[in-house]
Amino acid sequence: MPYYHRLGDIPAKRHTVFRKSGGGIHYEHLIGNLGFTGLQSLIYTVRRPTSVVSSRCRETLDWQSEDDPGLRMRHLRTHRLELPPVDPVTGRAPLLFNNDVAMSLSRPGDSEAPLYRNAQGDEIVYVSRGEGVLESQFGELDVRSGDYVVIPRGIIHRWRLAAGQDPILFIVESHGYVRTPSRYRNEHGQLLEHSPFCERDIRPPSRLVTVTETGETPLLVKKDNALHEVVLDHHPFDTVGWDGFYYPWALSIHDFEPITGRLHQPPPVHQTFQGDGWVLCSFVPRLYDYHPDAIPAPYNHSNVMSDEVLYYCNDEFMSRKDIEYGSLTLHPDGLPHGPQPGKTEASIGQKETSELAVMVDTFAPLRVARAALPCEDPSYQQSWLGDD
Ligand SMILES: [Fe+2]
Repeated sequence: MPYYHRLGDIPAKRHTVFRKSGGGIHYEHLIGNLGFTGLQSLIYTVRRPTSVVSSRCRETLDWQSEDDPGLRMRHLRTHRLELPPVDPVTGRAPLLFNNDVAMSLSRPGDSEAPLYRNAQGDEIVYVSRGEGVLESQFGELDVRSGDYVVIPRGIIHRWRLAAGQDPILFIVESHGYVRTPSRYRNEHGQLLEHSPFCERDIRPPSRLVTVTETGETPLLVKKDNALHEVVLDHHPFDTVGWDGFYYPWALSIHDFEPITGRLHQPPPVHQTFQGDGWVLCSFVPRLYDYHPDAIPAPYNHSNVMSDEVLYYCNDEFMSRKDIEYGSLTLHPDGLPHGPQPGKTEASIGQKETSELAVMVDTFAPLRVARAALPCEDPSYQQSWLGDD
């Protein structure tokens, strides 16, 4: 989990007078999850965080699943979806979802992003391509390709992506709060020596920019599967200081240190995050197994009680063929899966792989969004037919 961090000016004691230089006192604001028992931060702002001018429901977000879900292995070539280059928040294409987790894709182009607060879920935004800054009430966080940007719910933020890079964002939105795998943490919350990453790899916001603009400022709030336009009477990035454990943070997939072995290591060694009803794993470039007769490709397996999703961040994956950058595969519970013909034999004797992929395993069945169907590869389900 994130660690204690602070930026800017805060009073020596919480809940005490913190005067402004021009008169008056700063507004203290607690932001945290799980009531008062989870992670939390105290932020101090120039203006009252509750000053709402108006609020209206702008649109409902009723994700539709396909009419006939069937039961088959699925392959979506997500980067072939024609998406309007709207912005990183409202232009998201639904891909897969259940009641625990939802996955979507955004290709915002150079469009300007709105101020946004997700009030119904935590987000992990994987920056597949592009770079820029995540602005928030907690300051500015530099982001770049390969970053998992974790944005806990309730935090007002705005994406400021660099122009001309055709950014691609793969978004995982979770009903339960996002955390690092519990088995990699000690009882105090610190990441252990055998964790594939540690606090040194976690990047909190690094610059606090206090915006003191006043005037009506629109804010999009996602709540109950609808986007609400809330108008504030000032800019919400008026924080002068904060401290605590609750803030947006980034972890690069390139800082995930793979665990390898003499024989094939199962997917849990790649685990990076966990939520309620799902886990996320990172498949990164690594040396292969070093037993002289090792088969680096995975064995066939039945993923009982889970649906398995892979988002491919380049066009190589050791056990699959005809994969492209942006491919997304879904192997549902009910069908075993494994290497495609030829891939097991081809892996023998190989020393390393340069694959890069994000895996999301869910414990409840996933639905394929109707909006994602135009990019489906219908031949995928039969691509295991034939001999090696
Ligand atoms: Fe699998």
